[in-house]
Amino acid sequence: MKMSKLLLTGAIGLVTLGLAACGGGSSSGGSSAGSGETKVFKLAFNQTDQHPQYAAGVELGKRLEEVTEGRYSVKVYPNEQLGGQADVIQNLSNGTVELMWVGGPVLEGFNKDFVVFNLPYVFDSVDAQLAVLSEYEALDPLFTSIEENKQITVLAGVNAGVRNVYNSKHAVRTPEDLNGLKIRVQQSDSQVRMIELMGAVASPMNNGETYSAMQTGVLDGAENNEVTWDALKHSEVAKYYSYTRHLIIPDYLLISTKALNAMSAEDQQALKDLVPEIQKIANDGFAAFTQKSIDHATSIGAQFNDDVDTAAFKARVQPLVDESVNENDVRKGLYDLVQQANAANPAK
Ligand code: GCU
Repeated sequence: MKMSKLLLTGAIGLVTLGLAACGGGSSSGGSSAGSGETKVFKLAFNQTDQHPQYAAGVELGKRLEEVTEGRYSVKVYPNEQLGGQADVIQNLSNGTVELMWVGGPVLEGFNKDFVVFNLPYVFDSVDAQLAVLSEYEALDPLFTSIEENKQITVLAGVNAGVRNVYNSKHAVRTPEDLNGLKIRVQQSDSQVRMIELMGAVASPMNNGETYSAMQTGVLDGAENNEVTWDALKHSEVAKYYSYTRHLIIPDYLLISTKALNAMSAEDQQALKDLVPEIQKIANDGFAAFTQKSIDHATSIGAQFNDDVDTAAFKARVQPLVDESVNENDVRKGLYDLVQQANAANPAK
């Protein structure tokens, strides 16, 4: 119910924007709409075609084609074929790529308020994160905050697992065990500061560059969910995986605002109505894929360590959480949402 009201309001706003953009022309501003051709949106993805977000993207294409009667579809490009996230997001901004899945920290480069959901140990459980990500109305101001100056609209946030540290040297139990290790993080200040507070040396880079950097010894390790660690073969070169459980960061489905505004109001609405289904496909596939990744990594000799002093890591990163959350009222509001969701969905 909440959703439809929100989407309706959003649609009215977008019609207005659309009209302004086409100088008052018809609402079907899309070049292909009505021409009988299908406009195929490129969806940039940095993981493999086995990942649930790939399946969600393919399904988005099928359903979008149905609901727009063939006016729009989607082709997913996996494995960073269109570039690493930090680069391809610029193409989204200029409209040459229409859709992408992106890790939350990359959005901090456009609006720092996104940081709240990327902080260590803020979500008590995946369910708490999922609860926040379905608060469409409350998230709408954040999700539309970079439309005007960056031409990017956030369509949805999804679960992207729980992140842990891994490296080629040894199991990590305490912050001291990370001392001197060079660890890859996602590209944002919060991620750099987080891993430094946890005890390591930070090295921000695209996900696709991490494997060779670890293989050649430039990096000692990284931090990620089991799925990415194993699918990108990091488990072969950094076999010590330790359950620090420091992050539950969302991935977001982004659309170029230019591409969105070029659709008719009805087609925009049809696309937005697909969001909950697409979120569900991406989220539901994750748990099964995680188990498969653990089984595969085990079969090639990876070592898991669940004897981790998470309280010590949590204490180390607390200053980052406090500084980031108390910066302004928007962030305090988002953090309140997280707290409410945590109370309703405690760690199991
Ligand atoms: C996860 C996440 C990606 C992100 C990647 C990374 O795999 O799903 O969106 O890019 O981590 O660490 O860069």
